[in-house]
Amino acid sequence: MFKKLFRQNENFIDGELSPELPLPKHVAIIMDGNGRWAKKRLLPRIAGHKEGMNVVKKITRYANSLGIEVLTLYAFSTENWKRPTDEVDYLMKLPVEFFDTFVPELVEQNVRINVMGYRDNLPLHTLRAVENAIERTKHCTGLVLNFALNYGSRAEIISAAKEAVRELEKAGKSAEELRESDIEKYLMSSGLGDPDLLIRTSGELRLSNFMLWQLAYSEFYFTDVHWPDFTEGNFLEAMIDFQNRSRRYGGL
Ligand code: FPP
Repeated sequence: MFKKLFRQNENFIDGELSPELPLPKHVAIIMDGNGRWAKKRLLPRIAGHKEGMNVVKKITRYANSLGIEVLTLYAFSTENWKRPTDEVDYLMKLPVEFFDTFVPELVEQNVRINVMGYRDNLPLHTLRAVENAIERTKHCTGLVLNFALNYGSRAEIISAAKEAVRELEKAGKSAEELRESDIEKYLMSSGLGDPDLLIRTSGELRLSNFMLWQLAYSEFYFTDVHWPDFTEGNFLEAMIDFQNRSRRYGGL
């Protein structure tokens, strides 16, 4: 394959996008490394989250411009409540700031907000910001910006399995008749399709209870870059890498 080095936002990228090969329709990102980014700069951890929020804006614009259909971002896991109260409070305020400052542009860019996760124990200001953003962007037909907020995948799978079995029982069928599609229907990501590509930043090689069912056949892309340092060029590198994978879904 012809490879070319070119400059994109201060990064030198080895390769280029092919107009013939498909891009991922659905990209999921585990945005890791905010704390380490801040520590390296002798800043409080929340400074890393704040910069991380700005990167979310940048990558959303870029993914939308490439024609990506769904961008799912892991913003807060059900395990993140274990962090110090100050940090949790800050992470719960971020969606408020993010939506307050970014929704008008999202509407202009035709981006629709979706949020998957447990809403019951979100603070009221976070919940209001989320519901408001969903409402204000519900007519948008471009990129779906899907936040995983207070999300945990094992609990999601158990709830979906229970719902699916209840539905079978109602229809007088046995659990033996349970199919994958019965469970998929009740996943929080239902209707968004499975991620084609998962990106995790900051060098950790694990899934951290994120979309365990949905990532069954996804391509994985790991980078050492901390999320607050992640650029459009890094995203483009992941797209180029994806185009050079051969997806066989268990076939030949
Ligand atoms: C993981 O880094 C990151 C998080 C738990 C929070 C992710 C949140 C953002 C990127 C902010 C954007 C959010 C919205 C709603 C716009 P870490 O803190 O675990 O980093 P570390 O592993 O280096 O400590």
